Amino acid sequence: MSHEPIVSLRHVTKRIGRSTIIDNLTFDVPQGEIFGFLGPNGAGKTTTIRMMVGLMSITQGEIIIKGENIKSGFEQAIRHVGAIVENPEMYKYLSGYHNLVHYARMVPGVNKERIDEVISLVKLDKRIHDKVKKYSLGMRQRLGVAQALLHRPSLLILDEPTNGLDPAGIRELRDYLRLLTRTEGITVIVSSHLLSEMELMCDRVAILQQGKLVDVKGIQEFMSSATEQVQTYIIDASPAEQALGALCDMDKVREAKAVPDGLELVAEREHIPEILADLMRLNIRIYKAQPQRQSLEDRFLEMTGGGQNG
Ligand SMILES: Nc1ncnc2c1ncn2[C@@H]1O[C@H](COP(=O)(O)OP(=O)(O)OP(=O)(O)O)[C@@H](O)[C@H]1O
Ligand SMILES: [Mg+2]
Repeated sequence: MSHEPIVSLRHVTKRIGRSTIIDNLTFDVPQGEIFGFLGPNGAGKTTTIRMMVGLMSITQGEIIIKGENIKSGFEQAIRHVGAIVENPEMYKYLSGYHNLVHYARMVPGVNKERIDEVISLVKLDKRIHDKVKKYSLGMRQRLGVAQALLHRPSLLILDEPTNGLDPAGIRELRDYLRLLTRTEGITVIVSSHLLSEMELMCDRVAILQQGKLVDVKGIQEFMSSATEQVQTYIIDASPAEQALGALCDMDKVREAKAVPDGLELVAEREHIPEILADLMRLNIRIYKAQPQRQSLEDRFLEMTGGGQNG
């Protein structure tokens, strides 16, 4: 597989009237990954995607898809892209299958075999002959993805694909997006403001806020930088009252309070062994000291200042 990024954004800016909605975005999306655009409402995820698929003009900067600049070579660039940006058009009174057949007529080079292939890729085999109006949200979502895959794109872009899906639906979506990256070598871009889901779904995330890029990181890197900063511990100590009193007196302890599972302690990781040793010296017995993993959500809110806009 080539190491060329599948998509490159270079100083991409979008202005509407006097407001700058997207401000100087520069980053690469590597091939074969599931890449997330993460940001609170109004961050500019949809706008960025709309520019990538030619639904909106770019005020300044360049977007290159598989080596083709979408300004100068739109037709060439967009051939590589399958996308669901707005709700895909579906005929509710037709079966899923007939929706695909209907759509396939507008796409050159799509035969019956390809239709069957995308149906099995999104695992709709069993229900494909049911009318779309009988589909659940998750099934409609999958039909939309099947439609977007018909012309064999190398890049699939899904704006907020987990919207309205239950945890099982999200897990399924994740599994078949993974399958697509593995078996078809497709790169997937998904957007979301739901971080816990991005954590499970993506290899890498670009964090957007108010049209600006906050950071691009591998999800592992993101998570480990989050755990390095783990500062909250739950301690099961006896006698608890005495332990709490002692903790409150220690300089190294930033915060200590009683919680249902024991005592909650906030301190630097480096100080934890000493704090526990100090407690033991006071004949306090410690049964458990467990770091609370800082979730991606917390980390994200920290980075974007609580998701507040304006
Ligand atoms: N056509 C438009 N005219 C003026 N402002 C717009 C237009 N489209 C989007 N915006 C503004 O651009 C900003 C980014 O909007 P966008 O829809 O890209 O955000 P988003 O990250 O997709 O948010 P959400 O999570 O709510 O979908 C918002 O402040 C929005 O009001
Ligand atoms: Mg949006």
